[in-house]
Amino acid sequence: TGAVTLDPGFKNSGACKSEITFLDGEEGILRYRGYSIEQLASQSNFLEVSYLLIFGELPTKEQITKFETDIRKYTLVNEEMKNIIDGFPKNAHPMGILASLTSALTAFNPQPVNVAVEAELYDAVCKTMGKFLVIATWTFRKNMGYPLNYYDNTKGYVENFMRLMFELPTGPYEKNETIVNALDKLFILHADHEQNCSTSTVRIVGSSHAGLFASISAGVSALWGPLHGGANQAVLEMLEEIQANGGDADKYLAKAKDKNDPFRLMGFGHRVYKNFDPRAKIIKKAADDVLEALGVDDPILLIAKKLEEAALEDEYFKSRNLYPNVDFYSGIIYRALGIPTEMFTVLFAIGRLPGWIAQWKEMRVNKEPIGRPRQIYTGHPLREFVPQDAR
Ligand code: CMC
Repeated sequence: TGAVTLDPGFKNSGACKSEITFLDGEEGILRYRGYSIEQLASQSNFLEVSYLLIFGELPTKEQITKFETDIRKYTLVNEEMKNIIDGFPKNAHPMGILASLTSALTAFNPQPVNVAVEAELYDAVCKTMGKFLVIATWTFRKNMGYPLNYYDNTKGYVENFMRLMFELPTGPYEKNETIVNALDKLFILHADHEQNCSTSTVRIVGSSHAGLFASISAGVSALWGPLHGGANQAVLEMLEEIQANGGDADKYLAKAKDKNDPFRLMGFGHRVYKNFDPRAKIIKKAADDVLEALGVDDPILLIAKKLEEAALEDEYFKSRNLYPNVDFYSGIIYRALGIPTEMFTVLFAIGRLPGWIAQWKEMRVNKEPIGRPRQIYTGHPLREFVPQDAR
Protein backbone atom coordinates (compact mmCIF):
# COMPACT_ATOMS: atom_id res chain seq x y z
CA THR A 1 0.00 0.00 0.00
CA GLY A 2 3.06 2.27 -0.11
CA ALA A 3 1.76 4.13 -3.16
CA VAL A 4 -1.55 5.04 -1.52
CA THR A 5 -1.81 8.46 0.15
CA LEU A 6 -4.45 8.61 2.83
CA ASP A 7 -6.69 11.68 2.70
CA PRO A 8 -9.93 11.14 4.66
CA GLY A 9 -12.67 13.45 3.46
CA PHE A 10 -10.46 14.31 0.42
CA LYS A 11 -9.33 17.45 2.20
CA ASN A 12 -6.28 17.81 -0.03
CA SER A 13 -7.06 15.70 -3.07
CA GLY A 14 -7.95 17.21 -6.40
CA ALA A 15 -10.28 14.80 -8.18
CA CYS A 16 -10.44 16.55 -11.56
CA LYS A 17 -9.53 19.56 -13.62
CA SER A 18 -12.50 21.86 -14.10
CA GLU A 19 -13.27 25.08 -15.98
CA ILE A 20 -16.58 25.72 -14.27
CA THR A 21 -16.15 27.28 -10.83
CA PHE A 22 -13.24 29.10 -9.21
CA LEU A 23 -13.15 29.16 -5.43
CA ASP A 24 -10.52 30.71 -3.16
CA GLY A 25 -11.29 29.75 0.44
CA GLU A 26 -8.69 32.03 2.01
CA GLU A 27 -9.81 35.14 0.14
CA GLY A 28 -13.51 34.28 0.09
CA ILE A 29 -13.77 34.38 -3.73
CA LEU A 30 -16.36 32.51 -5.78
CA ARG A 31 -16.70 32.80 -9.56
CA TYR A 32 -18.72 30.91 -12.15
CA ARG A 33 -16.88 30.63 -15.50
CA GLY A 34 -14.81 33.67 -14.49
CA TYR A 35 -17.72 35.92 -13.46
CA SER A 36 -17.90 37.01 -9.82
CA ILE A 37 -20.79 35.70 -7.78
CA GLU A 38 -21.47 39.27 -6.64
CA GLN A 39 -22.05 40.50 -10.23
CA LEU A 40 -24.07 37.47 -11.22
CA ALA A 41 -26.31 37.72 -8.15
CA SER A 42 -27.01 41.41 -8.75
CA GLN A 43 -27.17 41.57 -12.56
CA SER A 44 -28.09 38.18 -13.96
CA ASN A 45 -30.89 35.67 -13.37
CA PHE A 46 -31.04 31.99 -12.53
CA LEU A 47 -31.75 30.61 -16.01
CA GLU A 48 -28.98 32.72 -17.52
CA VAL A 49 -26.55 31.54 -14.85
CA SER A 50 -27.65 27.94 -15.46
CA TYR A 51 -26.86 28.37 -19.16
CA LEU A 52 -23.50 29.93 -18.29
CA LEU A 53 -22.52 27.09 -15.98
CA ILE A 54 -23.63 24.33 -18.33
CA PHE A 55 -22.51 25.73 -21.70
CA GLY A 56 -19.60 27.95 -20.63
CA GLU A 57 -20.71 31.39 -21.89
CA LEU A 58 -23.42 33.91 -21.03
CA PRO A 59 -26.27 33.37 -23.52
CA THR A 60 -27.32 35.84 -26.19
CA LYS A 61 -30.94 36.93 -26.22
CA GLU A 62 -31.74 34.30 -28.87
CA GLN A 63 -29.94 31.57 -26.95
CA ILE A 64 -31.69 32.24 -23.65
CA THR A 65 -35.11 32.51 -25.31
CA LYS A 66 -34.52 29.18 -27.02
CA PHE A 67 -33.24 27.63 -23.77
CA GLU A 68 -36.33 28.72 -21.87
CA THR A 69 -38.65 27.47 -24.64
CA ASP A 70 -36.82 24.15 -24.86
CA ILE A 71 -37.02 23.64 -21.08
CA ARG A 72 -40.78 24.26 -21.24
CA LYS A 73 -41.16 21.45 -23.77
CA TYR A 74 -40.06 19.05 -21.06
CA THR A 75 -42.09 20.23 -18.12
CA LEU A 76 -44.76 17.59 -18.60
CA VAL A 77 -44.01 14.63 -16.36
CA ASN A 78 -45.31 11.13 -17.19
CA GLU A 79 -48.68 10.52 -15.59
CA GLU A 80 -47.46 7.19 -14.17
CA MET A 81 -45.09 9.15 -11.92
CA LYS A 82 -48.17 10.20 -9.96
CA ASN A 83 -48.81 6.58 -8.99
CA ILE A 84 -45.32 6.48 -7.52
CA ILE A 85 -45.99 9.65 -5.51
CA ASP A 86 -49.28 8.16 -4.28
CA GLY A 87 -47.32 5.27 -2.79
CA PHE A 88 -45.39 7.46 -0.35
CA PRO A 89 -46.69 8.03 3.17
CA LYS A 90 -48.08 11.53 3.53
CA ASN A 91 -45.35 12.70 5.90
CA ALA A 92 -42.42 11.34 3.85
CA HIS A 93 -39.52 13.81 3.71
CA PRO A 94 -39.56 15.76 0.41
CA MET A 95 -35.86 15.03 -0.20
CA GLY A 96 -36.48 11.28 -0.02
CA ILE A 97 -39.38 11.61 -2.47
CA LEU A 98 -37.28 13.83 -4.74
CA ALA A 99 -34.36 11.37 -4.88
CA SER A 100 -36.78 8.53 -5.65
CA LEU A 101 -38.70 10.44 -8.32
CA THR A 102 -35.51 11.63 -10.01
CA SER A 103 -34.33 8.06 -10.13
CA ALA A 104 -37.76 6.94 -11.40
CA LEU A 105 -37.38 9.33 -14.36
CA THR A 106 -34.80 6.88 -15.75
CA ALA A 107 -37.63 4.36 -16.25
CA PHE A 108 -39.49 6.80 -18.50
CA ASN A 109 -36.33 7.99 -20.28
CA PRO A 110 -34.31 4.79 -20.66
CA GLN A 111 -32.21 5.86 -23.66
CA PRO A 112 -28.63 6.70 -22.55
CA VAL A 113 -27.41 10.14 -23.64
CA ASN A 114 -24.72 10.02 -26.29
CA VAL A 115 -22.48 12.77 -24.96
CA ALA A 116 -20.59 12.94 -28.27
CA VAL A 117 -23.71 14.32 -29.97
CA GLU A 118 -24.23 17.94 -28.97
CA ALA A 119 -27.96 17.99 -29.75
CA GLU A 120 -28.55 14.95 -27.53
CA LEU A 121 -26.65 16.54 -24.67
CA TYR A 122 -28.58 19.78 -25.06
CA ASP A 123 -31.86 17.89 -25.05
CA ALA A 124 -30.89 15.98 -21.90
CA VAL A 125 -30.00 19.25 -20.16
CA CYS A 126 -33.38 20.85 -21.01
CA LYS A 127 -35.27 17.72 -20.04
CA THR A 128 -33.56 17.57 -16.64
CA MET A 129 -34.08 21.28 -15.92
CA GLY A 130 -37.77 21.01 -16.86
CA LYS A 131 -38.81 17.82 -15.14
CA PHE A 132 -36.75 18.27 -11.97
CA LEU A 133 -38.40 21.61 -11.13
CA VAL A 134 -41.87 20.12 -11.48
CA ILE A 135 -41.24 16.97 -9.44
CA ALA A 136 -39.44 19.02 -6.78
CA THR A 137 -42.62 21.00 -6.18
CA TRP A 138 -44.75 17.86 -6.30
CA THR A 139 -42.93 16.55 -3.20
CA PHE A 140 -44.43 19.52 -1.32
CA ARG A 141 -47.93 19.14 -2.76
CA LYS A 142 -47.88 15.50 -1.77
CA ASN A 143 -47.05 16.48 1.81
CA MET A 144 -49.80 19.09 1.87
CA GLY A 145 -52.38 16.87 0.20
CA TYR A 146 -52.79 19.43 -2.62
CA PRO A 147 -53.60 18.32 -6.18
CA LEU A 148 -50.46 18.19 -8.35
CA ASN A 149 -49.92 21.29 -10.46
CA TYR A 150 -48.62 21.86 -14.01
CA TYR A 151 -46.07 24.30 -15.43
CA ASP A 152 -47.49 27.52 -16.89
CA ASN A 153 -45.73 28.30 -20.18
CA THR A 154 -46.56 31.99 -19.94
CA LYS A 155 -44.54 32.41 -16.73
CA GLY A 156 -40.80 32.37 -15.97
CA TYR A 157 -38.91 29.44 -14.41
CA VAL A 158 -38.60 30.82 -10.87
CA GLU A 159 -42.09 32.30 -10.87
CA ASN A 160 -43.34 28.88 -11.95
CA PHE A 161 -41.65 27.35 -8.92
CA MET A 162 -43.81 29.47 -6.59
CA ARG A 163 -46.94 28.79 -8.66
CA LEU A 164 -46.30 25.06 -8.79
CA MET A 165 -45.89 25.04 -5.03
CA PHE A 166 -48.62 27.33 -3.81
CA GLU A 167 -51.38 27.69 -6.42
CA LEU A 168 -54.60 26.19 -5.16
CA PRO A 169 -57.79 25.25 -7.01
CA THR A 170 -59.45 28.04 -5.03
CA GLY A 171 -57.50 30.77 -6.81
CA PRO A 172 -54.40 31.69 -8.83
CA TYR A 173 -51.03 32.34 -7.25
CA GLU A 174 -50.41 36.08 -7.20
CA LYS A 175 -46.85 36.86 -8.23
CA ASN A 176 -44.88 38.70 -5.56
CA GLU A 177 -41.90 40.41 -7.22
CA THR A 178 -39.88 40.58 -3.96
CA ILE A 179 -40.25 36.85 -3.36
CA VAL A 180 -39.46 35.82 -6.93
CA ASN A 181 -36.40 38.09 -7.04
CA ALA A 182 -35.11 36.84 -3.68
CA LEU A 183 -35.51 33.22 -4.77
CA ASP A 184 -33.81 33.91 -8.09
CA LYS A 185 -30.81 35.32 -6.20
CA LEU A 186 -30.73 32.38 -3.78
CA PHE A 187 -30.79 29.89 -6.65
CA ILE A 188 -27.88 31.74 -8.31
CA LEU A 189 -25.84 31.62 -5.09
CA HIS A 190 -26.43 27.88 -4.77
CA ALA A 191 -25.93 27.03 -8.45
CA ASP A 192 -22.42 25.58 -8.21
CA HIS A 193 -19.68 25.15 -5.66
CA GLU A 194 -17.00 23.07 -7.37
CA GLN A 195 -16.28 19.63 -5.89
CA ASN A 196 -18.58 19.64 -2.84
CA CYS A 197 -20.05 16.41 -1.49
CA SER A 198 -23.12 16.18 -3.76
CA THR A 199 -21.30 17.34 -6.89
CA SER A 200 -18.48 14.86 -6.31
CA THR A 201 -21.19 12.24 -5.89
CA VAL A 202 -22.80 13.19 -9.20
CA ARG A 203 -19.41 13.03 -10.94
CA ILE A 204 -18.40 9.71 -9.39
CA VAL A 205 -21.76 8.04 -10.14
CA GLY A 206 -21.68 9.45 -13.67
CA SER A 207 -18.11 8.24 -14.11
CA SER A 208 -19.44 4.69 -14.31
CA HIS A 209 -21.54 5.97 -17.26
CA ALA A 210 -24.74 5.69 -15.23
CA GLY A 211 -27.31 8.08 -16.77
CA LEU A 212 -27.87 11.73 -15.95
CA PHE A 213 -31.06 11.17 -13.90
CA ALA A 214 -29.41 8.38 -11.88
CA SER A 215 -26.39 10.62 -11.19
CA ILE A 216 -28.56 13.59 -10.19
CA SER A 217 -30.65 11.36 -7.92
CA ALA A 218 -27.45 10.34 -6.10
CA GLY A 219 -26.57 14.03 -5.80
CA VAL A 220 -29.94 14.72 -4.16
CA SER A 221 -29.26 12.00 -1.58
CA ALA A 222 -25.81 13.41 -0.82
CA LEU A 223 -27.21 16.92 -0.49
CA TRP A 224 -29.84 15.81 2.01
CA GLY A 225 -27.40 15.28 4.91
CA PRO A 226 -27.28 17.95 7.65
CA LEU A 227 -23.55 18.55 7.17
CA HIS A 228 -24.25 19.57 3.56
CA GLY A 229 -27.51 20.94 2.08
CA GLY A 230 -29.63 19.63 4.93
CA ALA A 231 -27.96 22.29 7.09
CA ASN A 232 -30.54 24.91 6.03
CA GLN A 233 -33.35 22.86 7.56
CA ALA A 234 -31.16 22.02 10.56
CA VAL A 235 -30.43 25.73 11.17
CA LEU A 236 -34.10 26.59 11.41
CA GLU A 237 -34.87 23.61 13.61
CA MET A 238 -31.99 24.58 15.88
CA LEU A 239 -33.25 28.18 16.14
CA GLU A 240 -36.75 26.91 16.91
CA GLU A 241 -35.39 24.58 19.58
CA ILE A 242 -33.43 27.42 21.21
CA GLN A 243 -36.55 29.57 21.15
CA ALA A 244 -38.68 26.79 22.65
CA ASN A 245 -36.12 26.40 25.44
CA GLY A 246 -36.22 30.02 26.52
CA GLY A 247 -33.96 31.59 23.87
CA ASP A 248 -30.67 30.97 25.70
CA ALA A 249 -28.14 31.18 22.84
CA ASP A 250 -25.16 30.95 25.23
CA LYS A 251 -26.22 27.50 26.38
CA TYR A 252 -26.12 26.25 22.78
CA LEU A 253 -22.78 27.91 22.13
CA ALA A 254 -21.39 26.03 25.13
CA LYS A 255 -22.87 22.78 23.82
CA ALA A 256 -21.25 23.36 20.41
CA LYS A 257 -17.85 23.85 22.06
CA ASP A 258 -18.15 20.81 24.32
CA LYS A 259 -16.17 18.01 22.71
CA ASN A 260 -18.22 15.41 24.62
CA ASP A 261 -21.40 16.76 23.06
CA PRO A 262 -22.04 15.86 19.40
CA PHE A 263 -24.05 19.07 18.92
CA ARG A 264 -22.68 21.46 16.32
CA LEU A 265 -23.81 24.96 15.62
CA MET A 266 -25.69 24.45 12.37
CA GLY A 267 -24.91 26.99 9.66
CA PHE A 268 -21.39 27.64 10.95
CA GLY A 269 -18.10 26.50 9.45
CA HIS A 270 -17.08 25.45 5.99
CA ARG A 271 -14.58 23.01 4.55
CA VAL A 272 -12.95 25.56 2.26
CA TYR A 273 -13.96 29.07 3.35
CA LYS A 274 -11.69 29.98 6.22
CA ASN A 275 -12.30 33.72 6.45
CA PHE A 276 -15.84 34.20 5.27
CA ASP A 277 -18.34 32.66 2.89
CA PRO A 278 -18.89 35.20 0.07
CA ARG A 279 -22.35 33.76 -0.55
CA ALA A 280 -23.26 34.37 3.09
CA LYS A 281 -22.28 38.02 2.75
CA ILE A 282 -24.64 38.55 -0.22
CA ILE A 283 -27.40 36.52 1.35
CA LYS A 284 -27.23 38.33 4.68
CA LYS A 285 -27.87 41.60 2.85
CA ALA A 286 -30.65 39.97 0.80
CA ALA A 287 -32.18 38.61 4.02
CA ASP A 288 -32.27 42.11 5.54
CA ASP A 289 -33.85 43.55 2.36
CA VAL A 290 -36.47 40.81 2.05
CA LEU A 291 -37.47 41.00 5.71
CA GLU A 292 -37.89 44.73 5.41
CA ALA A 293 -39.80 44.57 2.09
CA LEU A 294 -42.16 41.92 3.42
CA GLY A 295 -42.43 43.59 6.82
CA VAL A 296 -41.48 40.39 8.63
CA ASP A 297 -40.79 40.66 12.34
CA ASP A 298 -39.75 37.21 13.43
CA PRO A 299 -38.48 36.57 17.00
CA ILE A 300 -36.33 33.76 15.69
CA LEU A 301 -34.20 36.38 13.93
CA LEU A 302 -33.16 37.81 17.27
CA ILE A 303 -31.83 34.42 18.32
CA ALA A 304 -30.00 34.09 14.99
CA LYS A 305 -28.40 37.49 15.52
CA LYS A 306 -27.38 36.61 19.07
CA LEU A 307 -25.77 33.37 17.94
CA GLU A 308 -24.01 35.07 15.07
CA GLU A 309 -22.56 37.83 17.25
CA ALA A 310 -21.56 35.49 20.05
CA ALA A 311 -19.87 33.04 17.71
CA LEU A 312 -17.97 35.78 15.90
CA GLU A 313 -16.47 36.95 19.22
CA ASP A 314 -15.87 33.56 20.76
CA GLU A 315 -12.31 32.20 20.89
CA TYR A 316 -13.42 28.65 20.03
CA PHE A 317 -15.11 29.77 16.80
CA LYS A 318 -12.49 32.38 15.93
CA SER A 319 -9.53 30.02 16.33
CA ARG A 320 -11.21 27.43 14.12
CA ASN A 321 -12.31 29.96 11.51
CA LEU A 322 -15.97 29.10 11.96
CA TYR A 323 -18.15 31.77 10.33
CA PRO A 324 -21.82 31.72 9.38
CA ASN A 325 -22.16 29.96 6.02
CA VAL A 326 -24.71 30.34 3.22
CA ASP A 327 -27.17 28.03 4.94
CA PHE A 328 -27.30 30.10 8.11
CA TYR A 329 -29.08 32.91 6.27
CA SER A 330 -30.88 31.02 3.49
CA GLY A 331 -33.18 29.30 5.98
CA ILE A 332 -34.10 32.66 7.48
CA ILE A 333 -35.12 34.00 4.04
CA TYR A 334 -37.01 30.85 3.08
CA ARG A 335 -38.98 31.08 6.29
CA ALA A 336 -39.81 34.74 5.62
CA LEU A 337 -40.98 33.77 2.12
CA GLY A 338 -43.40 31.26 3.60
CA ILE A 339 -41.53 28.12 2.46
CA PRO A 340 -42.05 25.22 4.91
CA THR A 341 -38.87 24.07 6.69
CA GLU A 342 -38.89 20.56 5.22
CA MET A 343 -38.68 22.07 1.72
CA PHE A 344 -35.53 24.11 2.37
CA THR A 345 -33.13 21.47 1.11
CA VAL A 346 -35.31 20.86 -1.96
CA LEU A 347 -34.83 24.54 -2.81
CA PHE A 348 -31.08 24.06 -2.46
CA ALA A 349 -31.36 21.11 -4.88
CA ILE A 350 -33.24 23.21 -7.47
CA GLY A 351 -30.52 25.83 -7.21
CA ARG A 352 -27.69 23.30 -7.41
CA LEU A 353 -29.16 21.40 -10.37
CA PRO A 354 -27.38 23.39 -13.12
CA GLY A 355 -24.07 22.89 -11.27
CA TRP A 356 -24.61 19.14 -11.09
CA ILE A 357 -25.51 19.04 -14.79
CA ALA A 358 -22.52 21.18 -15.78
CA GLN A 359 -20.10 19.02 -13.79
CA TRP A 360 -21.61 15.77 -15.10
CA LYS A 361 -21.35 17.06 -18.66
CA GLU A 362 -17.75 18.24 -18.22
CA MET A 363 -16.76 14.92 -16.70
CA ARG A 364 -18.30 12.90 -19.55
CA VAL A 365 -17.14 15.20 -22.36
CA ASN A 366 -13.59 15.11 -20.96
CA LYS A 367 -13.81 11.31 -20.93
CA GLU A 368 -12.73 11.11 -17.31
CA PRO A 369 -11.94 7.63 -15.96
CA ILE A 370 -14.21 5.84 -13.51
CA GLY A 371 -13.86 7.25 -9.97
CA ARG A 372 -12.34 4.57 -7.80
CA PRO A 373 -10.39 5.65 -4.68
CA ARG A 374 -7.97 3.30 -2.95
CA GLN A 375 -7.68 2.54 0.77
CA ILE A 376 -5.23 1.49 3.42
CA TYR A 377 -6.37 -1.88 4.75
CA THR A 378 -6.32 -2.12 8.57
CA GLY A 379 -8.18 -5.41 9.10
CA HIS A 380 -7.03 -8.93 10.00
CA PRO A 381 -4.13 -10.56 8.23
CA LEU A 382 -4.90 -13.93 6.58
CA ARG A 383 -6.67 -16.34 8.96
CA GLU A 384 -7.94 -19.93 8.75
CA PHE A 385 -11.68 -20.41 8.15
CA VAL A 386 -13.42 -21.81 11.26
CA PRO A 387 -16.41 -24.17 10.62
CA GLN A 388 -19.66 -22.94 12.20
CA ASP A 389 -19.84 -25.62 14.95
CA ALA A 390 -16.32 -24.75 16.11
CA ARG A 391 -16.93 -20.95 16.54
N1 CMC B 1 -19.97 23.87 15.52
C1 CMC B 1 -19.02 23.58 16.42
N2 CMC B 1 -17.78 23.16 16.12
C2 CMC B 1 -17.47 23.04 14.80
C3 CMC B 1 -18.42 23.32 13.79
C4 CMC B 1 -19.69 23.76 14.20
N3 CMC B 1 -20.63 24.06 13.28
N4 CMC B 1 -17.86 23.10 12.60
C5 CMC B 1 -16.61 22.69 12.83
N5 CMC B 1 -16.36 22.65 14.16
C6 CMC B 1 -15.08 22.32 14.82
C7 CMC B 1 -14.80 20.84 14.79
O1 CMC B 1 -15.32 20.22 15.95
C8 CMC B 1 -13.31 20.82 14.75
O2 CMC B 1 -12.82 21.12 16.03
P1 CMC B 1 -11.42 20.47 16.56
O3 CMC B 1 -10.37 21.00 15.65
O4 CMC B 1 -11.31 20.95 17.98
O5 CMC B 1 -11.61 18.99 16.46
C9 CMC B 1 -12.96 22.01 13.86
O6 CMC B 1 -14.06 22.92 14.03
C10 CMC B 1 -12.81 21.69 12.38
O7 CMC B 1 -13.99 21.03 11.94
P2 CMC B 1 -14.04 19.83 10.92
O8 CMC B 1 -15.25 19.00 11.20
O9 CMC B 1 -12.73 19.14 10.88
O10 CMC B 1 -14.23 20.60 9.55
P3 CMC B 1 -14.75 19.99 8.19
O11 CMC B 1 -14.12 20.80 7.12
O12 CMC B 1 -14.59 18.52 8.15
O13 CMC B 1 -16.33 20.29 8.26
C11 CMC B 1 -18.45 21.32 8.04
C12 CMC B 1 -16.96 21.35 7.63
C13 CMC B 1 -19.22 22.36 7.21
C14 CMC B 1 -19.04 19.93 7.76
C15 CMC B 1 -18.56 21.67 9.55
O14 CMC B 1 -18.08 22.95 9.81
C16 CMC B 1 -20.00 21.52 10.10
O15 CMC B 1 -20.40 20.43 10.49
N6 CMC B 1 -20.79 22.65 10.12
C17 CMC B 1 -22.19 22.58 10.51
C18 CMC B 1 -23.05 22.09 9.37
C19 CMC B 1 -23.22 23.12 8.27
O16 CMC B 1 -23.52 24.28 8.52
N7 CMC B 1 -23.06 22.69 7.00
C20 CMC B 1 -23.27 23.54 5.81
C21 CMC B 1 -22.01 23.83 5.09
S1 CMC B 1 -22.19 25.11 3.86
C22 CMC B 1 -23.25 24.54 2.65
C23 CMC B 1 -22.97 23.19 2.13
O17 CMC B 1 -21.84 22.81 1.88
O18 CMC B 1 -23.94 22.45 1.91
